[in-house]
Amino acid sequence: MDNYSIFQESKKYIPGGVNSPVRAYKDMGITPPVISKGSGAFIYDEEGTEYIDFVGAWGPMILGHCDVDVVNAISQTASHAIAFGAPTKLELDLAKLVCETTDIDLIRMVNSGTEATMSAVKLARGYTGKNKIVKFAGCYHGHYEGFLVSAGSGVMTEGIPGSAGIPQDHIKNTVIAKYNDIENIEEIFKLHGKDIACVIIEPVAGNMGVIKATESFMEKLSSLCKEYNSLLIFDEVMCGFRVAYKGAQSLFKCKPDLVTYGKIIGGGLPCGAYGGRREIMEMLSPLGPVYQAGTMSGNPLVMAAGIATLKKLQSNPDNYEKLNHLGEVLENGVLTIAEKANIPVKVNRIGAMLTIFFTDLEELNNYEDVQKCNTDMFKKYFKHMLESGINLPPSQFEALFLSLAHTEEHIHKFLRAFQDFCSKFSL
Ligand SMILES: Cc1ncc(COP(=O)(O)O)c(C=O)c1O
Repeated sequence: MDNYSIFQESKKYIPGGVNSPVRAYKDMGITPPVISKGSGAFIYDEEGTEYIDFVGAWGPMILGHCDVDVVNAISQTASHAIAFGAPTKLELDLAKLVCETTDIDLIRMVNSGTEATMSAVKLARGYTGKNKIVKFAGCYHGHYEGFLVSAGSGVMTEGIPGSAGIPQDHIKNTVIAKYNDIENIEEIFKLHGKDIACVIIEPVAGNMGVIKATESFMEKLSSLCKEYNSLLIFDEVMCGFRVAYKGAQSLFKCKPDLVTYGKIIGGGLPCGAYGGRREIMEMLSPLGPVYQAGTMSGNPLVMAAGIATLKKLQSNPDNYEKLNHLGEVLENGVLTIAEKANIPVKVNRIGAMLTIFFTDLEELNNYEDVQKCNTDMFKKYFKHMLESGINLPPSQFEALFLSLAHTEEHIHKFLRAFQDFCSKFSL
């Protein structure tokens, strides 16, 4: 069956034909390729078309697809341990690996990034005894009700749900702030500080395209949290083990109270985790009064994939330099080609995570800035690249990911396709 037929048939049984909305390529107005296999930097669709993949399952595949060590770890574990719902040594091994390399004392495994962030918020509320949470416009933390507040809502207003099915009651405690805006966050704390349980932030945002929080903003945020006894949560579901082995925590002077993980920590299997300071984490059941549980949490196959991935990442000190170098080659190539073609482009990149913004803005610091990008140009670029065998996230407001399976040759192939695109559309 070809891609089109499979996708049409899927629509009969799965809403929109997909199990997560962005995969439907609705905004791009095309049928998505239906993927049958992956190997290293490549994925292949059901028609046998090969693509160099720059999506990497939306982040987890930092070693490339079906890395041999991850596959071996999963298959060896599967021979004797699929699920027990009981403590395992594998859970200890992954927990130890993460705690020993980051600033967190204790960690709890869950099954997705959403579960990690919503559990971290519940814990913050339980620990502080306060109800309000602050999130930043343009940051995504999963599909928990309290996070799905329209990013465009007025700063100090109560917001509008970004999804049907969310009672106003569920979001009345969510306050939306402006990313990288010190005055705005000061004002929010002045108004709501005594009620704020936590602030959750992507310290390196990937869900409005890549934007890094500034050092001065993070310092201010951290000091406000301390002043008002609110917890600071770094959502590292996307940037953890990606922008550096120790994640975004290692890029800032200030330290989070809680950190959430997902994606890379599970090596491509469904996983999430949250961790932090001992006295906060000890509020969790069975030690404390904050209840959170999961039949599949800490599943042996997931733990094995996560351990294999993290061990491989840390086994070679040059890995992150290689990722950064590939990112640099891509970034410089894109900027040079676009400039020659007179196409206004800005690249935001932190290591192996980047976004090519079609904009003439000098800087993009927040959600308002990215909203000004030329999304029509992005659509043309996206389609051209896909037809040239380059798989990209189908949105201007997403991050492109590099893996250790990519080589400079793959980057040059990307750049040749980008050059063709610019020749067609040069202004
Ligand atoms: C920063 C961030 N937090 C949370 C999530 C939710 O993770 P999941 O899709 O595994 O539920 C995502 C998903 O992309 C994310 O990027």
